[in-house]
Amino acid sequence: MNILVTGGAGYIGCHVVDILLERGHKPVVFDTFYWGTEPLKPWQDRIRIIQGDCRNSKDIIYALDGIDGIIHLAGIVGEFACKANPKAHFSSNVESTRTLVNCCTDPEMDLVRDVVYASSCSVYGNVKGLHEIVTEETPTSPLSAYAHAKLRSEEIFLQRAHEVPHFHPTNLRLTTVFGWSQRPRLDLVTNLFTYKAWKDRKIIVHGDGMQYRSLIHVRDVARALVLVLEAPRFIRSGMTFHLGEESNNKTVREIAEIVASKVPGTEIEYLSGQPTDRRDYRIQCDKIKNCIGWRAEFSVEQGVEEMLDKLNTMGWNWDNPNFRNSSFNYE
Ligand SMILES: NC(=O)c1ccc[n+]([C@@H]2O[C@H](COP(=O)([O-])OP(=O)(O)OC[C@H]3O[C@@H](n4cnc5c(N)ncnc54)[C@H](O)[C@@H]3O)[C@@H](O)[C@H]2O)c1
Repeated sequence: MNILVTGGAGYIGCHVVDILLERGHKPVVFDTFYWGTEPLKPWQDRIRIIQGDCRNSKDIIYALDGIDGIIHLAGIVGEFACKANPKAHFSSNVESTRTLVNCCTDPEMDLVRDVVYASSCSVYGNVKGLHEIVTEETPTSPLSAYAHAKLRSEEIFLQRAHEVPHFHPTNLRLTTVFGWSQRPRLDLVTNLFTYKAWKDRKIIVHGDGMQYRSLIHVRDVARALVLVLEAPRFIRSGMTFHLGEESNNKTVREIAEIVASKVPGTEIEYLSGQPTDRRDYRIQCDKIKNCIGWRAEFSVEQGVEEMLDKLNTMGWNWDNPNFRNSSFNYE
């Protein structure tokens, strides 16, 4: 199938492109290239690359020509990046979804019927003392503008599916991603701790670190996104799935301890006060396993080891702001 991957040059997108090729699809990357085209170098001769903006219907309509399905990843990712760039955030994370959906379903065009959307478990906020484990039916309570936007986009997809019976979107709520990608992100909790341990032999945790975060390896995420798009419509159309692994429901303290165990001599310092990120939830992940047959293959320990190997061998300038979404000035 010809699959459009919006945000295909990003952290998750690079793995999606690789897996689509592995499974015999033809990926078309559609991206503003905030982080450049360099991350796509290993595959550039085997894919179509379109520079475009999801906020622009003309860009999308041209890109959708001949496309069988979409994996929608494009957006401004993370609470701090959104806070620092509110207009770019709203236009990229909410309005762009509306534009994409309109282009897919316009009756004059009837362009694309199948979309898998990368949403986030951030929509649950902080459920401590309320829910032992979070299912897809647990009430949402987003804490940040980013999480609100992910929820709003989910609703836009589902609302249109309700109105247009031949439109088949699926919302995947991703847990927090870790592991290596050709477009590395060092601002995600596991990768950040790994980087700090490697560089300073010190990890700083704000608060007691007892809040839960749910984690998933970037390669497992990419494989799930592709498997869901390949699944029969009756299984995925209009559905919401968690994308995570229950054995990866860890406290921030546990994540720091795993990383420290892999980098001898690493000290963990707990600063008094509240955590900078108030999210706290444990995610149940049975639904995607039962319906799609997907299983996570990578543990947190493996992800940390892989990151350490890359930090030791790649020789890149790890201070480059391109490796951290929050320090970027979006337009
Ligand atoms: N990484 C995580 O932990 C995580 C967790 C939950 C959900 N998600 C979701 O997964 C998706 C991908 O995240 P990521 O970690 O790969 O982020 P990323 O920042 O690495 O990738 C985003 C990509 O989208 C592109 N982009 C941004 N705005 C665009 C626009 N208007 N038009 C076209 N392209 C645009 C950027 O250039 C970038 O290549 C996002 O939708 C994010 O909300 C990620």
